[in-house]
Amino acid sequence: MADLLDVRGVSVRFGGVQALDGAALTVREGEVASLIGPNGAGKTTLLGVVSGAVAPQSGSVRLRGEELAGRPVHERAGAGVVRTFQNLEIFSNMTVLENVLTGAHLKAGYSLLDSLLRTPKFSREEKRLRDACMEKLDFVGLADKAQANAADLPYGEQRLLEMARALASAPVLLLLDEPAAGMNNKETAKLGAIIRRIRSDLGVGVALVEHDMELVMDISDRITVLHFGRVLAEGTPLEIQENPEVVAAYLGED
Ligand SMILES: Nc1ncnc2c1ncn2[C@@H]1O[C@H](COP(=O)(O)OP(=O)(O)O)[C@@H](O)[C@H]1O
Ligand SMILES: [Mg+2]
Repeated sequence: MADLLDVRGVSVRFGGVQALDGAALTVREGEVASLIGPNGAGKTTLLGVVSGAVAPQSGSVRLRGEELAGRPVHERAGAGVVRTFQNLEIFSNMTVLENVLTGAHLKAGYSLLDSLLRTPKFSREEKRLRDACMEKLDFVGLADKAQANAADLPYGEQRLLEMARALASAPVLLLLDEPAAGMNNKETAKLGAIIRRIRSDLGVGVALVEHDMELVMDISDRITVLHFGRVLAEGTPLEIQENPEVVAAYLGED
């Protein structure tokens, strides 16, 4: 079986900066694959290449064997590649549930005409979408906050809301960019449990960029280490922790 995600030989240049230089990343079906490396290593850029936000100068991005390179963001989202952002992107003038609905509407089974005429099909679909979104909110532990204003949630819960919204668009591959940033220990532990359940209960593959090494070592099946836009090492959490090059380049910083 083809890997869920197979990224190879990706190079990206921004003006004079070589952000990625032949980078690679593999996510197998139903696994949490983490991408770590110092600030500026190219992690966010690599997620952007996978989601379609960044066009690489070279390289291939295959989802279950199918080439995605050159295809726009919305087509990749339709194929099940969905991301969350390093800088939180929540609609602050909407309720929690409405935020999740914006993710689900990518998959709505009615036409604009149905929605304008408020046809029975529209009402049925709308109910189905709301139920599905409530399920996602329940999944991340925010069901009781569905009617709250998104802006009123504490920061850690806004991050979980962003994850519920991503899940509502039925991903096969979820790209998470520093989801634990700004979270306290309790929130991070909860996040770790949710990511585990995304893998085990939903069968969704996760590519995780994260600075919290305790979280990364705890929940990753495999880890890729990026350094100056290249893969420095790849392996299990134990292999990575014991790799002298990785320790020298990165883990030894702390
Ligand atoms: N849009 C951009 N324009 C110019 N330079 C960029 C842009 N995005 C990223 N970079 C540069 O590319 C390098 C990799 O950045 P990034 O992928 O954000 O690293 P990381 O997420 O690992 O911290 C950095 O040197 C960064 O300054
Ligand atoms: Mg980044």
